[in-house]
Amino acid sequence: MARQFAVVTGASTGIGYELARCCAAEGFDLLIAADEPRIHDVARELRQHGVDVTAIETDLATDVGVDELYEAMQDRQVDLLLANAGRGLGGAFLDQDFSDVTDVVATNVIGTLYLIHRVGRDMQFRGAGRILITGSIAGFLPGTYQAVYNGTKAFLDSFSFALRAELRGSGVTVTCLMPGATETDFFDRADMLDMRIGRQKKADPAEVARQGFDAMMRGDGDIVPGWMNKLRSAIALVTPWSVLAERHRTVAEPDSLRLAD
Ligand SMILES: NC(=O)c1ccc[n+]([C@@H]2O[C@H](COP(=O)([O-])OP(=O)(O)OC[C@H]3O[C@@H](n4cnc5c(N)ncnc54)[C@H](OP(=O)(O)O)[C@@H]3O)[C@@H](O)[C@H]2O)c1
Repeated sequence: MARQFAVVTGASTGIGYELARCCAAEGFDLLIAADEPRIHDVARELRQHGVDVTAIETDLATDVGVDELYEAMQDRQVDLLLANAGRGLGGAFLDQDFSDVTDVVATNVIGTLYLIHRVGRDMQFRGAGRILITGSIAGFLPGTYQAVYNGTKAFLDSFSFALRAELRGSGVTVTCLMPGATETDFFDRADMLDMRIGRQKKADPAEVARQGFDAMMRGDGDIVPGWMNKLRSAIALVTPWSVLAERHRTVAEPDSLRLAD
């Protein structure tokens, strides 16, 4: 019998790498994508699980990049789509380069939507498939000094639940993985190491990914890994946004701005 097939974006490092490892360990053939050559090393490693792994280096912030990924699926039936690629951006909004702002929105929102639109249609037509979207508990919080990133995750969290409701009864499930701070390259890449949130102890990406993978396989609507994150998100839901925005300042204000006050 042919093995099932999973597509994982942002699989070169962090949570996506661990999600891809879960898929390989469970016997799924894989198509994995990221923007840098390291993705090919990951493919070599994952093949040791005895599954077929294809890697593609492509910029998922662009329509062309998403089209390349779609074409690399070569009409193979996608059983699992793990739309995980994303990037952060720390600092005061007005101090950020606008090209970085658009890149975050294009990667986290536009590219993710376009990919899900293409693959989701095939799944709906077939009446089968599972989609995992990596949102974040950041989506519950107005992210002072991380304003655009948190906005993109609020979008994905909300979108995920709405799409799930639209696809009810179709055979296609949508699960939103909403991690809290997790130990990956994310904070370094987002220029957030001079913030409390960048330095604090964080969750293990392997554990976060395992919980996300299991929730997707169960067909759950969402998963917030870790009891502290569950508590934080429950509190956020009953707290005014003005209070949350001020609280976010205390963890995300860059040292350079805080010390200058
Ligand atoms: N770490 C956290 O605290 C945390 C918490 C909640 C949610 N998340 C979410 O989890 C997801 C994974 O993040 P992570 O923490 O694992 O960070 P990470 O280690 O930096 O991984 C990000 C992955 O996304 C890929 N990627 C980024 N931009 C891309 C683009 N334009 N095209 C193709 N691939 C791209 C990266 O590949 P390249 O290196 O090749 O660009 C990398 O594989 C993100 O959606 C993030 O928002 C993270």
